[in-house]
Amino acid sequence: MPLVTPGADQMPRSGIRRVMDAAWASGRPFIGMHVGEPSFTPPDHVIRAAEEAYERGDTHYVANAGVPALREALAVKLRESNGIEADPAQVIVSAGGAQALHLALSMTVAAGDEVLIPDPGWPNYAMAVGLLQATPVRYRLTPEQGFVPRVDELLALMTPRTRVIILNSPSNPLGTVVPGDVIEELVRFAERNDIWLLSDECYDALTYGVEHVSPARFDRSGVVLSAFSFSKTYAMTGVRVGYLVTPPEVAATAAKLQEPMIACVNAPAQAAAVAALTGPQDQVEFMRSSYAERRELAMAKLTEVGIPFVEPRGAFYIWVDVSARTGGSVEDWAVRLLERHQVAVAPGTAFGAGGEGWARLSLAADGDDIVRGIERIGEME
Ligand SMILES: Cc1ncc(COP(=O)(O)O)c(C=O)c1O
Repeated sequence: MPLVTPGADQMPRSGIRRVMDAAWASGRPFIGMHVGEPSFTPPDHVIRAAEEAYERGDTHYVANAGVPALREALAVKLRESNGIEADPAQVIVSAGGAQALHLALSMTVAAGDEVLIPDPGWPNYAMAVGLLQATPVRYRLTPEQGFVPRVDELLALMTPRTRVIILNSPSNPLGTVVPGDVIEELVRFAERNDIWLLSDECYDALTYGVEHVSPARFDRSGVVLSAFSFSKTYAMTGVRVGYLVTPPEVAATAAKLQEPMIACVNAPAQAAAVAALTGPQDQVEFMRSSYAERRELAMAKLTEVGIPFVEPRGAFYIWVDVSARTGGSVEDWAVRLLERHQVAVAPGTAFGAGGEGWARLSLAADGDDIVRGIERIGEME
């Protein structure tokens, strides 16, 4: 039989899979707090825009980097919401944030290179890096340091093969938001060391009482690549639209790479994205305030049952410390929780070894489910 590449063959399965498989195999109803899927639907005008695009016959190939109307609307959004001054030519429309990240890595990382990734962090970073036959090198985010990366520790992980550092704020799974002064420090770190800073800002619109600061604001020498998404902001996960913002010098290269990867993003989905950006934003605020309410409910219930947690400042996750309850492996504990109490959570180790003893609860679940789920976690010995 012909071979598949080591990068493909050795790519680990997501650590949430064991819990999901057990949930489906049981055939019983369960409270799902394990996935980051918004419980909302996209605003009506967004859906209508996609329907109209199909009816108009917008079903042909479009430019690799995206339709001009969307890139122009994104340049406005980036200036107004993120403080990023980018020409539409620097904005490459992608198939979700995931493909924006893959595009950025494909452009900057070769086999044998190293990429600094957060631990705990979104599992797809290690998968995407491994697929390029490069090595993910994990930097730890610890409670002692407020889950913020430290430049001296990053420096110690650098080798001549380090090409990129991935930063994710607001964070999945931690729900933390990196303060602006640290963001600026990390941009300077990337500049000094001549590496790329790949900023995953897929949750940029979801913060609670703090400001999300985009690294590209501080970029003086063209080292920041920024990945964004429509998935979470507009509850458009299955529509698959995101975008990568690059320095002017590499924008044409990034646009060119879309040809072999995806050719272009689905044209009606791009019409939907234009409507999302330019239409009323009240539903975005409704979703954000719903997550904010669920966050309050979750924090109150966790406090009541005596489970320590990290106060979420962004995204829609709450990172809870179950180390006193797991008696060893948090993954085994999560499977037991499902079997005994029909509650599905993501074990912290799905996000790296640093997640041992922790679990991620998703606030994308319904408020009543969150309360009942936490009560049942409290009952787990
Ligand atoms: C941290 C993070 N980045 C990126 C993404 C990518 O999302 P999408 O490809 O749907 O835009 C996700 C999705 O869960 C995520 O949690």
